[in-house]
Amino acid sequence: MKKVPIGVFDSGYGGLTVLSELLEKLPSYDYIYFGDNARAPYGNRSFDVIYSYTLEAMEFLFSQGCELIIIACNTASAKALRSIQQNDLMRFGNQKRVLGVIRPCTEYISSVTSTNCVGVLATQGTVNSNSYGIELKKFAPNVTLVQHACPMWVSLIENNMHNTDAGKMIIKADISTLLSQNKAIDTLVLACTHYPVIQSYIEEIAGKEIQVLAQGPLVADKLIDYLSRHTELDNTLSKDGTVVYFTTENSDFFDEAASKFMNRNIRSSHIEL
Ligand code: DGL
Repeated sequence: MKKVPIGVFDSGYGGLTVLSELLEKLPSYDYIYFGDNARAPYGNRSFDVIYSYTLEAMEFLFSQGCELIIIACNTASAKALRSIQQNDLMRFGNQKRVLGVIRPCTEYISSVTSTNCVGVLATQGTVNSNSYGIELKKFAPNVTLVQHACPMWVSLIENNMHNTDAGKMIIKADISTLLSQNKAIDTLVLACTHYPVIQSYIEEIAGKEIQVLAQGPLVADKLIDYLSRHTELDNTLSKDGTVVYFTTENSDFFDEAASKFMNRNIRSSHIEL
């Protein structure tokens, strides 16, 4: 049987922060990264639109042979993952798996907060879905969650505007608004895979007392655990250490930005969905 790569999907560049952790912790596997940059950001879009865009992305990655896809996007994980798992996956074949990024994070949260009060920075779609609240109730019902939507952040990062004075002002205002809601917050979860790009600035604003949690390492650890428990799936995965990139954006444009994100030379192919 032909072995296949792991699919990694995001609305844009954010999933690259997850991919780089996967490459760090699971370097021998092959990956296909797909960014729907032309239609990003997803964060302010309706449930129906996010579901249909994410489903199209899954269809594309399955058509490339993927058996396992990581939705490296909180908004798509919040809005589309469950519907795809329940309504669509069977159609693609029994052995296909789609995993998200919210559960690995909510499983981990209680072990890092000492005040049991955690702030979540995310897109409007993720906050509105209350997926973090719902998942956290299962794994850490004693943790108080304070959520704040940052509707501008993904556009700032996608357009490389986060380092401008205006961009920094917006980011600072959002963090201050969140922290002012509960003085007990000791952990900030970056519940959008774009946000680790500005992690050092977030840490500077939040101050030394507050730890800032990015999802990439958690998702990678969870995948290692998942594959060790699903050896039948692991045996279908190819392990030549390659990455192939696809984007719905102009590929030259993607390559320039993605190479900066990943600190390595990236060559992508453009596709239309
Ligand atoms: N990286 C996506 C997330 O984790 C960004 C969503 C968007 O496109 O707004 O939510």
